[in-house]
Amino acid sequence: MKKGFIFDLDGVIVDTAKYHFLAWKKLANGLGIDFTEEENEQLKGVSRVRSLQKILTWGNKSLSSEEFTDLMAKKNDDYLSYIDTMDESEVLPDVHKVLDILKRHKQPVALGSASKNAKPILEKVNLLQDFNAIVDGNDVSRAKPDPEVFVTASRLLGVDPKACIVFEDSVAGVEAANIAGMVSIGIGSEKVLGHADYVFKDFTQISEDFLNQLINE
Ligand code: G6P
Ligand code: MG
Repeated sequence: MKKGFIFDLDGVIVDTAKYHFLAWKKLANGLGIDFTEEENEQLKGVSRVRSLQKILTWGNKSLSSEEFTDLMAKKNDDYLSYIDTMDESEVLPDVHKVLDILKRHKQPVALGSASKNAKPILEKVNLLQDFNAIVDGNDVSRAKPDPEVFVTASRLLGVDPKACIVFEDSVAGVEAANIAGMVSIGIGSEKVLGHADYVFKDFTQISEDFLNQLINE
């Protein structure tokens, strides 16, 4: 059966969490709310709107819808200024290796990300041309764990969802892949991503034999 490989972006291809952290911390601190690395972890895979809602809940603050919209825009401006200098060197270890193997085996590859900044980031790290389809936060209305982003990617690839394999670093993303009936591969810690079909610390742990097994099973 024809297979399709879908990659999340943030935390899978590049580590943007550190930049999101700086931007959210600036915003939270500006509202008199403390913001820790642990809280930032909980925002992985979570949409921009939902992230701000969570920060406000943690800080016990409420905003008018106008203030909310303004702060979202400000956060994104700050985030964009932090990622401005990103380049190829920020691609996580062995991502190129895995993409090259899939290309050699003529496997269709898609991006399935919640980020509205996915395309400019792929462009900065020179990977835009490596994806046969890109689905990001601008294309979907339902956030992970809703499987919309991955199902849309499978449709664009012309591959049955059940024949898709998803690489994800977030709890919600692995859940979304599982709900879509896709093979879920967690990139990160077994403790956090135990609900994935397979978990690897990073792409250095993923061999060509394993990818061959996924292609052929
Ligand atoms: C990814 C990240 C989240 C981020 C979301 C939206 O899922 O893991 O931390 O909030 O994308 O990103 P954006 O670039 O649109 O703010
Ligand atoms: Mg992610």
